[in-house]
Amino acid sequence: MNILVTGGSGFIGANFIRYWLSTFQDDLIVNLDKLTYAGNKNNLLEFDKNKNYQFIHGDILDIVLLDTILTKYNPTFVINFAAETHVDRSIVYPEEFINTNILGTFRFLTALNKYYSKKDNQEKRNFRFLHISTDEVYGSLLKDQAPFTEESKYYPNSPYSASKASSDHIVRSFFKTYKLPTIISNCSNNYGPYQSIEKFIPLIIYNALNKKVIPIYGDGKQIRDWLFVTDHCKAIASILFKGEPGEVYNIGSSNEIKNIDLVNIVCNLLDTFSPLNKDSNIKAYKELITFIKDRPGHDNRYAINTSKIKNQIGWEAETSFKDGIKNTVEWYLTNWDWVTKSAGSEYKKWVKVQY
Ligand code: NAD
Ligand code: DAU
Repeated sequence: MNILVTGGSGFIGANFIRYWLSTFQDDLIVNLDKLTYAGNKNNLLEFDKNKNYQFIHGDILDIVLLDTILTKYNPTFVINFAAETHVDRSIVYPEEFINTNILGTFRFLTALNKYYSKKDNQEKRNFRFLHISTDEVYGSLLKDQAPFTEESKYYPNSPYSASKASSDHIVRSFFKTYKLPTIISNCSNNYGPYQSIEKFIPLIIYNALNKKVIPIYGDGKQIRDWLFVTDHCKAIASILFKGEPGEVYNIGSSNEIKNIDLVNIVCNLLDTFSPLNKDSNIKAYKELITFIKDRPGHDNRYAINTSKIKNQIGWEAETSFKDGIKNTVEWYLTNWDWVTKSAGSEYKKWVKVQY
């Protein structure tokens, strides 16, 4: 079977391709990626000469390219990871989010619809388009509110989440109007190898090792539900095989952690795995923690009710946070070369403009 993945050189996409190719050896994965600051071809370096992997440098807004790729590779599964994903960047550069996340998804759907309409009935039955979305579309929960279900109202608070919410609505409309077999998954915060160092966990590690301040927005009491990225990849595979067209599945791990607790956990792991020199001016990495101005529109809490995916698809998170975060910290320390390359000119530019 052929599979088209977009945004496969980013964090989750790269983990997904690695997971799929090591699990289903007969399939061909075509990865269309624009290679923005968040995309890195080296995330999949070991597959460069693999006959089951094909990289194409391009943009999901390029409808001519999309037509060519779909005709040439005839994919059965199509998974859309491509997006602008950093909430902080969406506050500074919202237009890029509107372009890729809304217009890009629309163009992609338009090309897919044309492609799908030419398929025979058997091919139509097997075809799936999975749109990878986020729990942020549901907005923010108060401390005692019940976790988000697939029925929760859309309440996006940042340009990022608003752009993802819009894309979800467009995907839904293509199912309802044109009968394109689309599925949407809304997942909580992922962590693991290959995540951009602008995101919270890699940023804690990068700043700590460089003895820079570790910035905590506001009071640090905001809560996220952290899911190990491989568990997300397994959920995606399960949805592709068992999910119903037109449906939405929430993905999470019921692992709610306050930002301030998370930063302390990561700092403690760093104290163990990368101990400070005796002559260092700090005695523990947590001394670098610094509370700064809050993120505008900062969502207070995300939490996911995973009953639907558990009951209907049979998926649930497998990795304990204790193991996942330990493995993650070790991965960044072992792959420090990857980390320093990620902190290149684009990152330095971002650090300067950040509010
Ligand atoms: P990422 O920022 O690490 O990677 C995004 C990838 O998309 C990059 O490789 C980038 O080059 C590519 N890309 C961006 N614009 C493109 C375009 N116009 N055409 C083609 N490629 C383009 O993102 P991620 O964290 O891996 O997230 C992947 C998807 O999962 C996104 O849709 C995101 O909204 C969703 N998601 C992420 C999380 C998370 O915690 N990271 C959680 C839930 C959902
Ligand atoms: O919930 C899913 C979403 O999770 C995805 O859709 C997004 O693409 C992904 O980036 C992530 O969004 P968050 O805003 O939750 O992730 P981020 O890593 O940017 O921040 C996590 C929390 O840490 C958040 O409450 C903000 C806080 N934070 C973040 C940074 C970068 C800080 O306190 N300091 C920081 O320097």
